[in-house]
Amino acid sequence: MPLSTRAPCRPESLPTATMQVMPAGAALGAEIRGVDLAQRLSTAQVALIRQALLDHCVLCFRDQHISDDDQVRFTRHFGTPVEHVRKQRARRVKEIFIISNVKENGEPIGALGNDLIDFHSDLSYLPKPGTASLLYAVEIPDQGGQTQWVDCRAAYAALPAPQQTWLRTLRAVHRHYVAAQNPPEPTIHPVVRRHPETGRLSLYVSPHLTSHVHDMPRDEGDNLLRELYRHMDQPQFIYTHQWQVGDLVIWDNRPTMHRRLPFPDAQRRIMNRTQIFGEEVVE
Ligand code: SIN
Repeated sequence: MPLSTRAPCRPESLPTATMQVMPAGAALGAEIRGVDLAQRLSTAQVALIRQALLDHCVLCFRDQHISDDDQVRFTRHFGTPVEHVRKQRARRVKEIFIISNVKENGEPIGALGNDLIDFHSDLSYLPKPGTASLLYAVEIPDQGGQTQWVDCRAAYAALPAPQQTWLRTLRAVHRHYVAAQNPPEPTIHPVVRRHPETGRLSLYVSPHLTSHVHDMPRDEGDNLLRELYRHMDQPQFIYTHQWQVGDLVIWDNRPTMHRRLPFPDAQRRIMNRTQIFGEEVVE
């Protein structure tokens, strides 16, 4: 059922009167209606969006016509956006990183190509990984290229209590498959993390960025991870986003992992990404 967000009629809260949070009908995900992200948002609007993000983990704003500066301004409501050092010729502001398979003069204009990118939580290979990530859809393919998120809170909650208790004693090593992206020391996080704002527990391992379980023999740990990935990859925990041009999607990486489905390389996909990171993972 849509959550009505009608606010009392005070001048500073008037803009939220038109705002609606429409749950996606999946484990997670909601659409926010009645907000123009090209405009500056009121404190009341920001508070409502931040609460919706904690509740639903993935929020979509459809039909947005925003500039790079608008995206960066909106991102700042969730923390300080990362400034990228990696060069991208098509990039106009340092906080926006282009995700794209498009090539110009034989050179990719962005990162991540057109293949499947398996489930991961952004930047989990860092000691203080990603909190929020945002993607703005500039061009999308006709087929494929959807993004899927797993509600890792619900996946954890669905496990038997003794397994939950045992998993809370374990840690896992995370690493980027490009060795140069990794910090000098291995990054070790708890297998179950606690969200610092909601207090809720969730699984925090992923097939793309978790290397192995730290506290177990390798083959036993690998079996455990395979079992957890099978458990997490079930429809009742997943929201699939069918992109439209003009979608701005923000998600909380702490209680979720996501994967990008493949699409034909002959088709163009261009997304502008901003990200917040810098928070330690705690149990
Ligand atoms: C990512 O995996 O961070 C990119 C997601 C996407 O392009 O949909």
